[in-house]
Amino acid sequence: MPETVRLGFIGVGGIANHHLNQLKAIPGVTFAAFCDVNEAAVAKAVETHGGHGYADHRVMYDREELDGVYVCIPPKYHTDQEILGAQKGCALFVEKPVALSMDKALEVQEAVTRAGVLSSVGYTMRYWAGVCAAKEYLDGKRISMISCNRWGGVAGGEEHWWRVMDVSGGQLVEQATHQVDAIRWLAGDIRAVWARYEYASMAHLPKMSIPASQAFCFETAGGACGVMSCSCATYKGGGGGSWDFLLDGERVVVEGMSAKRLPPPDGTDGALGSTLEAMSIDEGFVRALQSGDGSTIRSTYADAVRTLEVTLAANESAASGRVVECTAWR
Ligand SMILES: NC(=O)c1ccc[n+]([C@@H]2O[C@H](COP(=O)([O-])OP(=O)(O)OC[C@H]3O[C@@H](n4cnc5c(N)ncnc54)[C@H](O)[C@@H]3O)[C@@H](O)[C@H]2O)c1
Repeated sequence: MPETVRLGFIGVGGIANHHLNQLKAIPGVTFAAFCDVNEAAVAKAVETHGGHGYADHRVMYDREELDGVYVCIPPKYHTDQEILGAQKGCALFVEKPVALSMDKALEVQEAVTRAGVLSSVGYTMRYWAGVCAAKEYLDGKRISMISCNRWGGVAGGEEHWWRVMDVSGGQLVEQATHQVDAIRWLAGDIRAVWARYEYASMAHLPKMSIPASQAFCFETAGGACGVMSCSCATYKGGGGGSWDFLLDGERVVVEGMSAKRLPPPDGTDGALGSTLEAMSIDEGFVRALQSGDGSTIRSTYADAVRTLEVTLAANESAASGRVVECTAWR
């Protein structure tokens, strides 16, 4: 793999610009192409970062030789962007959630496997200090219970796709997927969920079709029980988020950038440290492209499909009232 990597972008909105800001500080990165259905977004990206602009990713793939492509589009619009990229031999960086259906996600997963390309998915919390510290501490320990919440606001204004269920999948699928993914990374796969959602309290917001609050119970493959909630009802403030892991006689609290043991062991404040190398998710991807070995990627496409399955299972359970089993991890 080359020392200099040529990157393309499909979707040049909010998160793509965040990645671009991180990537431009990494040596050996060239921005070769930008594609977006929004002409103005493409023009701005080309003016700022160089490279060629496109309105159609198929044309971009035909004309460009890329080492890697970032797919940063709203969840509903994943069609063949990843499959065509993989077939061209491009490494993929795909934003979460990777799709809105398991059929699409598994189709892409198969294409990625068949092409043998590297893949990384935007689960940034796997690079956060507290999450990394908790991962190392929890490794091999029996977990009794997990409790997690993510309470926040509503992304964007009334025209934003985030509040449209058919486009985003709702807060759990689109956003609190980060929390679910971190649970899977720290405590192992989830094998069944039972969910309940509430819509009425925020139905007064224009064009709002996603639940205001989502709560679910789950069981991990290792036998832990868990409860998780996410809500956008704190859109006027007062939100927050954390994970609690209850072990035999001990509690581990994770707040993203920090993690601690309660009660603290004698003579300490209980703070947990990590020996995992500190890096951004973009640095992890670029280094993988440069080395070709993938060891700096912490969530592959196939791994992210399992996280997607848990959140889609919760949606299905909330609709049907039944416990839904997750099977992709087996
Ligand atoms: N990892 C994270 O922390 C994080 C944070 C924010 C968003 N995201 C994810 O990134 C994705 C994009 O979110 P965003 O906030 O950047 O949205 P955004 O609306 O700001 O940008 C999306 C861009 O994609 C473009 N687009 C839509 N369909 C397209 C298509 N078929 N081809 C090319 N371009 C297309 C839009 O015109 C827009 O410019 C979502 O899946 C979201 O969940 C991840």
